[in-house]
Amino acid sequence: MSRDALAGLRVLVSAGPTFEDIDPVRFIGNRSSGKMGFAIAAAAARRGAGTVLVAGPVTLDTPAGVDRRDVRSAAQMHAAVLGALPADVYIGAAAVADFTPAEVAEGKIKKQPGSGGLTLELVRTADILADVASHALRPRLVLGFAAETADLEANAQDKLRRKRVDMIAGNCVGVAGSGFEADDNTLHVFDATGSHVLGPGPKTGLAEALLDLVAARLQ
Ligand code: CTP
Repeated sequence: MSRDALAGLRVLVSAGPTFEDIDPVRFIGNRSSGKMGFAIAAAAARRGAGTVLVAGPVTLDTPAGVDRRDVRSAAQMHAAVLGALPADVYIGAAAVADFTPAEVAEGKIKKQPGSGGLTLELVRTADILADVASHALRPRLVLGFAAETADLEANAQDKLRRKRVDMIAGNCVGVAGSGFEADDNTLHVFDATGSHVLGPGPKTGLAEALLDLVAARLQ
């Protein structure tokens, strides 16, 4: 397969966690490092794709040739991703918060004398992946990730159908040496026709193998 099958296409990638503010000093976050999404964006740019990377709060360098847009919250990521359409390919590698505080306190929340705990009201965030997949400017190929601690195949297949995406890359999280924070990973990629196992290996190599599958789907 030609290495430059993505050349000239517009590839949109989201990566990293989102931080949902509780008050001026606290937030709800997650363990995503952004490494997988950054590796995908770097590989897409190397293949000659016009690559936009919407990045949550991470401490990674911007890959060469990538147009990076930094965001913090799920709402900001939603606006930045939909605002970056049209694209030929969307790869949703970000670990987007599913819930966000119903209100952000203006000042730091203080302990109240005599009261025990604190109850936070959380509300659902918009599903960026599903919104891209049902958008009037839907990319030709929409690929999502599924981070699972159990039942990887069943959950990934369910997300494929429910979110109406073309491919889902499932990975196991919560085990040493794979998933969030790790440099290595194993991806189980599902589409309507079957599945492929990529790795185990470094996220940089997995990014290349994943883009090989994407390029093959586009031909
Ligand atoms: N995702 C998204 N917007 C959200 C939540 C998730 O775009 N608000 C995307 C992620 O970027 C990923 C995919 O959905 O590509 C799967 O995310 P995951 O958290 O594993 O799945 P959920 O749909 O949130 O399902 P669940 O929490 O039940 O596992």
